[in-house]
Amino acid sequence: MSSIISVKDLTKTYKKVDAVKGINFEVEEGEIFGFLGPNGAGKSTTINMICTMLKPTSGSIVINGYDVKKSKDKVRGSIGIIFQENTLDEKLTAYENLMLHCRFYQVPKSERDERIQEVLEIVDLIDEQKQRVETFSGGMKRRLEIARGLLHYPRVLFLDEPTVGLDPQTRAHLWEYILKLKEKKGITMFLTTHYLDEAEISDRVAIMDQGNIIAIDSPKALKDQLGGDIIELSTEDNDQALKEISEKVKEAEVTVNDDIIHLKVASSDAFISSFIKTLDIPITSLNIRKPTLNDVFLAFTGRKIGQTSE
Ligand SMILES: Nc1ncnc2c1ncn2[C@@H]1O[C@H](COP(=O)(O)OP(=O)(O)O)[C@@H](O)[C@H]1O
Ligand SMILES: [Mg+2]
Repeated sequence: MSSIISVKDLTKTYKKVDAVKGINFEVEEGEIFGFLGPNGAGKSTTINMICTMLKPTSGSIVINGYDVKKSKDKVRGSIGIIFQENTLDEKLTAYENLMLHCRFYQVPKSERDERIQEVLEIVDLIDEQKQRVETFSGGMKRRLEIARGLLHYPRVLFLDEPTVGLDPQTRAHLWEYILKLKEKKGITMFLTTHYLDEAEISDRVAIMDQGNIIAIDSPKALKDQLGGDIIELSTEDNDQALKEISEKVKEAEVTVNDDIIHLKVASSDAFISSFIKTLDIPITSLNIRKPTLNDVFLAFTGRKIGQTSE
């Protein structure tokens, strides 16, 4: 596999914050690459530097063979960007918005209409193309923005928190379109999200926290790395339970979060029956599950992804 994005020792320092602290990674051609991290992790700052919207403090970025510092226009011409905030012209129709973009990117005149129909088809907006954008729902607007991002046949599509503000059903729908795009067009996709379930669709995920990449691998490998099962436990007296566990249980890693005791064990089957007998404190609830990306984040940072570091 060859890498289409290569980032080396990248940093960004704002006046008061080291937003990105020297990160390194490669994105392979054709993959969905996800940046997962809490608010303020540095995801947007990184994506904006790759897309040439923001100047790095130091480090290098090569994308599609172009150095971001030296070939800004070449980079911009070969990528599509879908940002968090809506950037459509609400007073224009869907078709007109796309035509505007074709002109801006100098898509040859003879190809414009055909390309517009092609991208509208992908996002299921053929029948709505003559309607003004102001009449669209949030999900339709997002789909139109994706269509627009595709018009100039980018090799990489950037999506920064593309589903923020959408309801769960629309979010799920949007991911179907994104997966369809990957299948149909083989476009490399670089997305950021702070939703764990969304990061799961990525081929590889970089987990970002406080300006650093703390892990990078496929979601499966990240979870397998933690291994085993997680037992979530509530008791009538968690302090007492923790004391008992520390005295009697040796084979589990123990953490406490939101008043729930988490025990990470190699295999819950072997562990659970003897564990229940061991504990004197009555158990009020017990849940066994496989590790999620949240557990991966927790394992690396000691926090859940929704919690702030302060
Ligand atoms: N224009 C800016 N000026 C100063 N600080 C900024 C600016 N943009 C972002 N930051 C800070 O940089 C850090 C990373 O922000 P950001 O890249 O937006 O994170 P994310 O997209 O992961 O939520 C945060 O601490 C944020 O407050
Ligand atoms: Mg952001």
